[in-house]
Amino acid sequence: MSGSAARELTVTIEKIVAGGLGLGRLADGCTVLVPQVLPGEMVRVGVRRRHRRHLEAEVKELLTPAPERRSPPCPWYGRCGGCDLQHADYPSQVARKQEILAELLQRSGLGAAVLPVLAFPLAATAEFHYRQRIRLQVEEGRTGFFRTGSHQLQEVEACLLARPEINAAWAALRDHAGWRLLAGQCTALEISLDPASRQVVLLLHHRRRPRPAERQAAWRLCRELSVLKGLGFLPADHAAGPFFDRQAGPEGRREPDQLRLHYVLPAELAGSSLTLGVEPAGFSQVNEEQNRQLLRLLLELLKPGGDEILADLHCGMGNFSLPLALRVREVYGVDLQAAAIRGARRNAAANGIANCRFSRAQARQGLADLVAAGIRPDILLLDPPRTGCLDLVRSLAEPLPPRIAMISCDPATMVRDLGHLAARGYRVAAMRLVDMFPQTHHLETITLLLNDRVRNPA
Ligand SMILES: C[S@@+](CC[C@H](N)C(=O)[O-])C[C@H]1O[C@@H](n2cnc3c(N)ncnc32)[C@H](O)[C@@H]1O
Repeated sequence: MSGSAARELTVTIEKIVAGGLGLGRLADGCTVLVPQVLPGEMVRVGVRRRHRRHLEAEVKELLTPAPERRSPPCPWYGRCGGCDLQHADYPSQVARKQEILAELLQRSGLGAAVLPVLAFPLAATAEFHYRQRIRLQVEEGRTGFFRTGSHQLQEVEACLLARPEINAAWAALRDHAGWRLLAGQCTALEISLDPASRQVVLLLHHRRRPRPAERQAAWRLCRELSVLKGLGFLPADHAAGPFFDRQAGPEGRREPDQLRLHYVLPAELAGSSLTLGVEPAGFSQVNEEQNRQLLRLLLELLKPGGDEILADLHCGMGNFSLPLALRVREVYGVDLQAAAIRGARRNAAANGIANCRFSRAQARQGLADLVAAGIRPDILLLDPPRTGCLDLVRSLAEPLPPRIAMISCDPATMVRDLGHLAARGYRVAAMRLVDMFPQTHHLETITLLLNDRVRNPA
């Protein structure tokens, strides 16, 4: 058999596409998608699944390796589903992501307008050990990550993406009798680093509310492992808690208050040193270094002049709203999550920032409420989850804000949403890829949009 009907094929990889897979083309026009390959490589592959217009395949033999190929440093690479670009040296990972972004822009019809203002990508200085938080799967006491494309556990003992303190806590935990008692009822374990104390907080996804012996085991862990700041239960059938704090003693608390994680935004960046707290289960950017770069770029692109009204429609705990509040007249923060709004208000008060208002709402409704109250934002900041913000951009009503900054962690939904904004008269004035997630295909972008039809930007 030859062509796309064969079970094994030889193919040359043309490029890496969104999702991190290599794409090759057969003589009959059928495309083949292959993981863990690089452009220019010739590979013999085995077909795993056939679709109408493409094949999924896996590498059987690497016939001509690309110059940027390296031996993946992680011993679980290829089995664990966490990373998919470790076989490429770091500069080439960043270059490949830029190509993926450029291709998405081209295919969406935005290429001619955006590619001239697409800056060179901002690589991370730390390609490993950058993650502030990891989520492990737990099965009968064993910990690890899901295998690629499955819900099967790949047992793993350390993660090269995680901060060293997280790996140290994970190793200490495995050896502790308290964990062995708890692990049986655990389905997942989140380990987050508190940058302020350099200790970690554990969140145990538990099948049910913990029983007295499990509460005692939790407290023993906190008391005996100095790397722990504390531990909380997230029972499947009940509200979150109890939370154990090694400073507070053996009585578990109902609220995670003492277990908040604290990040510092330095004065040279934020204008004044800000300490921002986030509840352990709340959202915070996983890469602290690149989060600071995002803020730096945001300030560079927006160049706030001091008199603007800014609406941050996915504000989280105030990561961007609060430093921006120091540079504009007023900030209105909106987020869907109650915990985020609680955190943002608390952070504003703790840092003495008074020109902010935070409210819980869907982004679209939050903006409509502002406009109904007579507030006309000069700047919109959009930092949606991966699904993007289609309902908001599709329904953006007059008065249109002259400036929009969009931060996105999914280039496909970002490109879709930019299309809607272009239809409302916005042009992309600048775009940059910020590599928040080295070793993975995930890519983050920051974009500045201006609307020349409305009030002139400052
Ligand atoms: C990528 S996070 C960014 C948070 C914040 N900007 C930061 O840097 O920490 C996205 C945020 O959007 C919120 N969110 C998700 N869907 C939303 C919606 N439809 N309207 C408003 N907020 C939403 C989430 O709760 C989350 O806090």
